[in-house]
Order: sequence, then structure tokens, then C-alpha cells
Amino acid sequence: MTSVAVMGMGYVGLTLSVALAKKGFNVIGVEKNLDVLTQLKEGIPHFTEKGLAPLLRHYVKAGKIRLSQNLVGVGKVDTYIISVGTPLHKSSKRPNTDYIGQVLEEVGGHVQQGALIALRSTVAVGTSRKIAIPEIEKSSGLQVGDGFSFAFVPERTIEGNAIQELEKNPQVIGGFDEASIQKASQMFAKLTPTILSVSSLEAAEMVKLMDNSYRDLRFSYANQVAQICESMGLDANELIDCANTHYPRNSIPVPSPGVGGACLSKDPYILADAAKKAGADASLLLEGRRINEEIVADIVNRVAARLDVIKKPMDQVTIGIAGLAFKGQPETSDLRESTSIWLLEQFSANYPEALIKVYDPVISDTELETLGFEVSSSLEQLASGADVLMLMNNHASYTEIDPYMITSKMRQPCLFYDAWRMLEKNMFDELDNVEYLGVGV
Ligand SMILES: NC(=O)c1ccc[n+]([C@@H]2O[C@H](COP(=O)([O-])OP(=O)(O)OC[C@H]3O[C@@H](n4cnc5c(N)ncnc54)[C@H](O)[C@@H]3O)[C@@H](O)[C@H]2O)c1
Repeated sequence: MTSVAVMGMGYVGLTLSVALAKKGFNVIGVEKNLDVLTQLKEGIPHFTEKGLAPLLRHYVKAGKIRLSQNLVGVGKVDTYIISVGTPLHKSSKRPNTDYIGQVLEEVGGHVQQGALIALRSTVAVGTSRKIAIPEIEKSSGLQVGDGFSFAFVPERTIEGNAIQELEKNPQVIGGFDEASIQKASQMFAKLTPTILSVSSLEAAEMVKLMDNSYRDLRFSYANQVAQICESMGLDANELIDCANTHYPRNSIPVPSPGVGGACLSKDPYILADAAKKAGADASLLLEGRRINEEIVADIVNRVAARLDVIKKPMDQVTIGIAGLAFKGQPETSDLRESTSIWLLEQFSANYPEALIKVYDPVISDTELETLGFEVSSSLEQLASGADVLMLMNNHASYTEIDPYMITSKMRQPCLFYDAWRMLEKNMFDELDNVEYLGVGV
């Protein structure tokens, strides 16, 4: 069976490796982070993802997934899939291609005649042709087309449900030439029933960026509407629900406390950067990002203002923040670019005198402790003695909260901030000393 080297065992590389092993491929998982590698060699994933742990354990034990820190001594590889991170440079918000550059050099030093190289990381339009292929040609001495095939095969699964979606979602494929498309299609057709080949490498790169920029922009619309409603004393969720109900032309998303996560927080910037280079206007995407990034500051200011009204000085206040992972559904332990982390940073920068406690239903207490705040191991514990309780992601367990029970543990008068509107506002109507707040209400 074909041997596949997956370069980078993060959220993308690890789930894909398991999905490939399930279909019979011999997978070599290459991961340069020694701590992660050691854990994976024991068959234990380094993040929470539905269904991943038992499959990884099984395929590592069965020898269908072998793990290595690099390609030295791994033998012949038929296909290389590159899935390393493509973050932004922090200050300029421009794409950082350092990880891609290193991995391309390594693959180029190992690749043999006839292999397929598939880039899966999200990259700026033009990266495959202008950066990846020349780097492989330089370090391998082979020519694309004659010596190796090259495809761009974007990952489009949702974190928390990736293994299921890898077997279901259409796989978009852009190739250097027809042979590259054929090779990549044959491989991914073993994973999923639908292959969508597009006209060029650039087209496939663009599809991925368009996907995520579109999602970010839709959320920014809902979030701006929510802010407008808030200032008018209207309930945004009630209005959005009404506008969507049995009306075939609407599907407005629910508002959220900004939009984070490793992908949506960066991909519009990558597309905007590429657009700028092409002389095109991408101001709408950047405006959406601005809206989605600034909500956290509004939340901090609003909570501080309401505490002032109920005469609770910040140096005597305890704020409990629940839901640190960047989203609650599907479940994940991913903290990268979580808006809850932005919230923690802004509270502690503006109000260092307030006591902040944290809780998350998915992330382990040990991992939460690395954030440097007092960790509660249950929501009840978090609420005990708190002046403010904030539900910052949409974990399904929050829908089961009994408002009376949870707020009875708090130091009243108190604020209950339900960012994702996991509870009905009217459930709080009878609670005299509790103020219910949320994005858009
Ligand atoms: N997370 C998602 O669900 C998702 C979805 C779609 C697309 N993407 C894109 O896929 C890419 C990977 O995302 P991720 O979330 O898996 O990233 P990640 O940061 O979780 O994982 C990347 C892994 O690659 C490893 N690595 C870096 N350089 C290496 C090298 N030279 N050799 C071996 N290993 C190396 C890192 O140590 C890390 O473990 C990004 O471009 C991202 O934008 C991610």
C-alpha cells in the first residue's frame, strides 16, 4: 500500500493521518516537537478531538502510523502531505511562511522520482507555484512534472468533527498538471466520495481562503447587528431568529463574543494580503475582522460599567470565566486565538486588581493552570462567591444550567454574562439581584 509522509502532526496532520491509516495507507507522521512526538508514539493525541484517541492508539499499535521527528531513515515515500502551521506575523498580520519553508526544504531533500507532494496548509494564493515548487526543485534537483507531481489539497474540516468530515466533505484539488490532479484525486478518493478538481493550484488556494473569509464576514454581520441592537435596547437573538424563521432567503448566524480560532482569525488577512499584492480591494474582509476582534473590548467595558452601576469596586470583585476553548461546539480543547483568552488578557491588563477565575468543561485543569489564573474544577465552584459569571463559549452543557441554583452561589447583586445566549433571557426575570447580559442583549 502507498506510503504517505504527513509533515506536521497538528490538528490537521494528525486527524488526516488517522483517516488515511483507516483506509489502509502506511502513514509516517513527522513531527518536530519532541514532547508532542513522544506522546504520539504512545498513541495519545495532544488535543481533544471526537473519536481520535482510540483510532490513534489502534493504528500506532498496529504499525500503520509510524512516528518520526524528521524524514531521515524513513525509507521510500510515495506521497508527502504538508500540514504545518501558517500563522501570521504578530505585528504586521502578514503570513509567516517560515514553517512551510523549512518543511519544503526537508521534503525536497528526501523526495524521489515519481512522488506526489501535496500542500494542505492554508496559504496565500500563489504560494504553491511561486514558493513551494521552486523550493522543492532547488533542494531535490528534480523538475515538477517530470520528476515529481504537485497538488494543493486544502483542509476544510471543522475542528471537533474532523475525522467524520474527512470521510464526507468534498476534497478540492488543484494540480500543477493533469498527472498531479490524477494522483491526488486517486488518493483522496479513498477517503471521501466527492473530489472537486479546480482549474489551477491558485484556484484551490483561493477556495480555501474564500471559505474562511466568508464565514468570518457572516459572523461579523451578526456581531455588528448585535451591537446595534444592544444600543437600541433590542434583543438581537430574538430578531435574528424571527428574520430566519420560515423565510427562505435568510440564514443569519447567531451573534458571538467575537470570532477567534486559529483559522478564521488569520485567513481573511492572508486573503487580504494576497489581494493587495494583486492590486485588488479587500477592505470588506478587513472590516469584518475589525468588528470580530473588537467585540471583546466592548464586553470588558460593558461588564466594568455595569459593575460600577451596582457599586462593586474592581479591587473587591471576583470574575468567573467559563469556556476558554475557542468554541464549545463541536467540542475542542483548542485555546489558539480564543476570544476568551483575549478577554482574560484585556481584563487583567485593564483591571489587574480584580480576581479572575477560570473553568472549561473540556480542557484539563493542568492545562488551564498554565494560563496563570485560579482554576475551578466545576461551574458551581466557579460561581461560588463570584460577582460576575461569564459563559464565553457555546459548550452544550451550559444549556442545562439552572439559573436560580447557579446565581444563588454568587455574591449578589451580580452579573450573569451569557455571551452565546445559551439560556433564555426570561429565565432570569424573577431573579431580583441578578442582571442578565450577553452579546446583543
Ligand atoms: N486546525 C484546523 O482545523 C485547520 C483547518 C483547515 C486548515 N488548517 C490549516 O492547516 C495548517 C495546519 O494547521 P494545524 O492547526 O494543524 O497547525 P498546528 O500548529 O496545530 O500543527 C502544525 C504542526 O506541525 C509541526 N511542525 C512544524 N514544522 C515542522 C517540520 N518542519 N517538520 C515536522 N513538523 C513540523 C508543529 O510542531 C505542529 O505540531 C495551517 O495552515 C492551518 O491554517 C487548519
